[in-house]
Amino acid sequence: MTKRRIYFDNAATSFPKPPGVHDAMMHYARQIGASAGRGAYHEAVEAGEIIHQARRRIAQLLGASQPESIIMTFNCTDGLSLAIKGLITEPDSHIITTIMEHNSVLRPLSALQEQLGIEVTYIPANGEGCIDPEDIRQAIRNHTRLIAIVHGSNVCGSMQDIASISTIAREHEIPFLVDAAQTVGHLSIDVKDIPVDMLAFPGHKALLGPLGTGALYIRPGFESKLRPLKEGGTGSKSEIPLQPDFLPDRFEAGSHNLIGIAGLNAGVAFLLEEGLDRIRAHEVELCRTFLSHTETVDGLTVYGPRDIDKRVGVFSVTIDGYEPGELAAVLEQQFSLLTRPGLHCAPYAHESLGTFEQGGAVRFSLGPFLTKEDVEYAADALKQIAYTTAIR
Ligand SMILES: Cc1ncc(COP(=O)(O)O)c(C=O)c1O
Repeated sequence: MTKRRIYFDNAATSFPKPPGVHDAMMHYARQIGASAGRGAYHEAVEAGEIIHQARRRIAQLLGASQPESIIMTFNCTDGLSLAIKGLITEPDSHIITTIMEHNSVLRPLSALQEQLGIEVTYIPANGEGCIDPEDIRQAIRNHTRLIAIVHGSNVCGSMQDIASISTIAREHEIPFLVDAAQTVGHLSIDVKDIPVDMLAFPGHKALLGPLGTGALYIRPGFESKLRPLKEGGTGSKSEIPLQPDFLPDRFEAGSHNLIGIAGLNAGVAFLLEEGLDRIRAHEVELCRTFLSHTETVDGLTVYGPRDIDKRVGVFSVTIDGYEPGELAAVLEQQFSLLTRPGLHCAPYAHESLGTFEQGGAVRFSLGPFLTKEDVEYAADALKQIAYTTAIR
């Protein structure tokens, strides 16, 4: 009998999706097919309603006061690029970020360093991948124009204290951008409680939509500080040569990924119905299970916080004597466990955790449809491999 393949790569993209996601995409593909805002016939209007509904639902999930503050993007990278490059246009700019960032923050910043000569400060993390918000306060200079922070690490699951950092940013009137790729949809984030200026997130990870979807939340009023990176058709104000200045059209040039947004709309509906507190409670139980079953196993190291309140369900592991690629292959071939080896597009985070030189680690990342038994099975597989290696 072939073993069930168990997907532990939800930090890359979530799988499986709730059935309603497939149904919504099929309905769009079979019955609608039209582009939004480009016609007055019934199907075009219905396409527009799908986008509005997705915007409203995402706004509801985040506690955002107006749906237009949700800008549809094609992934999280797309939203982060708009936030960073749309805001930073002057050479005399200093930006504060952390060593825990994904390349989708690190690379736009490196590009701006090269193109404009901006300065970047990278705040270090402790051994569990957490930064001290006070280090951010200390790094602020007169010309600091942005604080850009990843909320949940895609390497070791550590969460940064974005509430404290947002207070510091507010006190110094510095724009605050959060990369919430690994947290939106996993737990509740309310932009009324945590005043961020911009929050970027994918639609295809914990929001349970398909690949090719994402969004950027922009605090009402902040949009005037952001330059669009793309100009083009919006189906609105076609008589004027410039990009419309109102939301969301200012930042949504060109036809939408409507089949993707139809799926995203259904994914967010699923989360609203389940409730993020329930989703988080399930993930916390899975995290506890993984941590307790992998504790004190000779040769096995699990990176990131032991304290569940400081983490999401992303675990990097190493086993002495194994290269990450080799370990992931054993996990797949012998145990049907699908994991992600390597540097996870976050080289400085791996440097900080001490795993860069060995080529990174193997990542297990949780999703809402995994069970406690799946996680126990994965932890037992790791124990078995570590034990067999130790007696080899
Ligand atoms: C922390 C973090 N930021 C940004 C991204 C980029 O997301 P996307 O693949 O949707 O562009 C990822 C993707 O893995 C991520 O983990």
